[in-house]
Amino acid sequence: MSLFLTLALLSTILGTTTSTNLPRSFSFPYGLSYHINCGSPTNTTDPFNTTWLSDRYFSGGATGIVSEPLNFHHAHEKTLRFFPISSGKKNCYAIPSLPPSRYLLRTFVVYDNYDGRSHPPSFDVAVASTVVFSWRSPWPPSLARDGAYADLFATILSSEALICFYSLATDPPVISSIELFAADLASYDAAAIADNGTVLVNYGRLSCGSDQWGPGFSNDSDLFGRSWQSDSVFRTGQSKIVAVSTRNSISGAEEKPNYFPEKLYQTAVMTATTAEERGGVLEYELRVDAKLDYLVWLHFAEIEGRVRRVGGRVFDVYINGDNLTRVDIYKQVGGFAAFTWHHTVKNLSSSVLSVKLVGVVGAPLICGIENYALVPSDPSTVPQQVVAMKALKDSLRVPERMGWNGDPCAPTNWDAWEGVTCRMSKDNTALVISQIDLGSQGLKGFISGQISLLTDLVSLNLSSNLLTGEIPSGLGQKSLIHLDLSNNQLTGSIPDSIGASSSLQLVLLNGNLLEGQVPEQLYSIGVHGGAIDLSGNKGLCGVPSLPACPMFWENGKLSTPGKIAIGVSCSFVFCAILLLAYIFIRRRRNDYDFALPHELTSLAAKRNRYQRQKSLMVLEMESQHAKGPPSHFTTQ
Ligand SMILES: *[C@@H]1O[C@H](CO)[C@@H](O)[C@H](O)[C@H]1NC(C)=O
Ligand SMILES: *[C@@H]1O[C@H](CO)[C@@H](O)[C@H](O)[C@H]1NC(C)=O
Ligand SMILES: *[C@@H]1O[C@H](CO)[C@@H](O)[C@H](O)[C@H]1NC(C)=O
Ligand SMILES: *[C@@H]1O[C@H](CO)[C@@H](O)[C@H](O)[C@H]1NC(C)=O
Ligand SMILES: *[C@@H]1O[C@H](CO)[C@@H](O)[C@H](O)[C@H]1NC(C)=O
Ligand SMILES: *[C@@H]1O[C@H](CO)[C@@H](O)[C@H](O)[C@H]1NC(C)=O
Ligand SMILES: *[C@@H]1O[C@H](CO)[C@@H](O)[C@H](O)[C@H]1NC(C)=O
Repeated sequence: MSLFLTLALLSTILGTTTSTNLPRSFSFPYGLSYHINCGSPTNTTDPFNTTWLSDRYFSGGATGIVSEPLNFHHAHEKTLRFFPISSGKKNCYAIPSLPPSRYLLRTFVVYDNYDGRSHPPSFDVAVASTVVFSWRSPWPPSLARDGAYADLFATILSSEALICFYSLATDPPVISSIELFAADLASYDAAAIADNGTVLVNYGRLSCGSDQWGPGFSNDSDLFGRSWQSDSVFRTGQSKIVAVSTRNSISGAEEKPNYFPEKLYQTAVMTATTAEERGGVLEYELRVDAKLDYLVWLHFAEIEGRVRRVGGRVFDVYINGDNLTRVDIYKQVGGFAAFTWHHTVKNLSSSVLSVKLVGVVGAPLICGIENYALVPSDPSTVPQQVVAMKALKDSLRVPERMGWNGDPCAPTNWDAWEGVTCRMSKDNTALVISQIDLGSQGLKGFISGQISLLTDLVSLNLSSNLLTGEIPSGLGQKSLIHLDLSNNQLTGSIPDSIGASSSLQLVLLNGNLLEGQVPEQLYSIGVHGGAIDLSGNKGLCGVPSLPACPMFWENGKLSTPGKIAIGVSCSFVFCAILLLAYIFIRRRRNDYDFALPHELTSLAAKRNRYQRQKSLMVLEMESQHAKGPPSHFTTQ
């Protein structure tokens, strides 16, 4: 049976495990965990004495409830949050104040026709800047009805965990619960196999010869919050199988850095052959996405009383047909001791990963199998620029429908924030903001001074809004080529920083309430073939076509007007001529080709140009990440 179907079954087998163990108290530093009951107005406690926080840390969306609540065992499975397209394409949970660590993140997602439309949605989920789960409509019926848990290990070094949902084809993403458990930074051989950037997405975590167990599913503990599934549905092959178990303690379990639980090694399965024969074959098949690489961990313990010597049980481990190692558990660690072996599987040719244990002496035996997709992390936006964009979101009062949530640029296979264009930084390690195009959006706020942190901004267009306040003195970064703040209600004077940028070629500040002296460097832009429009303001002064400034200009500075080859134009026609000249020069230089001639005659075409450049950018970035997101639960 495929993984997603089996995951779907989890919700139906909850609570069937009975155990008399008391919950083990988690010890420092891994005791930290968050349990968020999405869509719930109240805190709840589950049968395992876990407190679930009422829904919080989210941006956008609305709450819902499954259509058949009685089919679900836990309160956190019955309520959900969904993100209709009116709250934007991208919505996130941002869990604050997290110590830097590796975390297990577990989600529960169910549809159960909560909206009465019989259409389970298509959407993506990203952690930090990496797409980790892809849900595609239609879901298998059992999955849509019963829901599924999914989990992963990710290192979160920022103080905030971002879990973002991206709507595809205007479908509203759904989420029922989110859990985070702190784990050891060095767990799962992080340094060697999965550096801090790689996300380990669970493609199977099996406890052999056992029912589902682990935090949230039984009273058994697992220090990292891992839940362990029964192996039975993943077993293939003809051999007869027996399950074995012990109550003896197991040495080497619960140890740093992986803290594999003792319970994992207290049950096992083996082939039903006697120790004297060659022991037969134990075989498992796990469904995978062939585009990714996988990290496979196998868990063994010699817990069957009969084998008490080296050479008593020997078997070979094959993965996808390759004989990778010969195992003699007793030789490695002795009896009642944990032995783990792991391997990275690359270059898969099919969507099945097979694990086969072939007996050499005695019956092969296994306690557990873990399989994680190694999902390389996508670059995220330079942190300073994220700060700037969040400040702008607040100051400009960007409407919710534009979906300015999470990282402005990442993941690169999603669209950037609406009206925002990004590119890779020069050193290819992070994303930066290159364009902001929010003309005619009815914005009523002001321009935050933090905009100066956008050091790669090439074009800023906030024209035809209702912006008030002053032009921040930090605006005018070296990279800036186009600045259009025309037709707002900006007040105050033009800061000296504008014009200090040597790249500026187009400055439209017309139709505002600006006053005071125009910085000398600003109108010298005209000399370099640029275009400026300062017309229709309240009281700008100090350039040839504007009134002289009453005081400053008597100090003699303007006595050399000959320096200024081209003054500032106040008429659109003159601006247009300048712009043509600029385009001509720029094109001949084969330089940064930003404007195209036909735009001068067709203003409407300008929007298309921005759109086209943006989609090219996206394509370019996508091709750099051609591997694509894992389609974890994609049907077929
Ligand atoms: C878990 O342990 C608590 C406290 O001992 C007990 O009340 C509860 O019934 C147990 N739950 C299950 C599913 O065993
Ligand atoms: C839920 O619990 C948290 C933490 O214990 C508390 O801060 C919050 O006020 C509670 N919320 C409700 C709705 O009771
Ligand atoms: C449940 O947890 C609370 C505090 O978290 C504790 O006081 C209580 O004893 C626990 N109950 C059980 C049955 O473990
Ligand atoms: C992962 O991050 C931790 C904490 O910042 C650091 O100590 C460790 O060296 C990093 N490991 C790798 C492989 O980058
Ligand atoms: C499988 O590989 C192991 C070591 O990698 C080797 O010792 C063993 O003989 C091999 N088994 C077979 C059947 O070739
Ligand atoms: C996987 O494929 C790549 C390119 O096709 C090759 O360079 C690499 O050696 C292969 N790795 C393994 C483990 O086969
Ligand atoms: C800025 O945006 C507005 C509205 O979308 C558009 O009309 C104008 O041409 C743009 N300005 C520039 C310089 O492209």
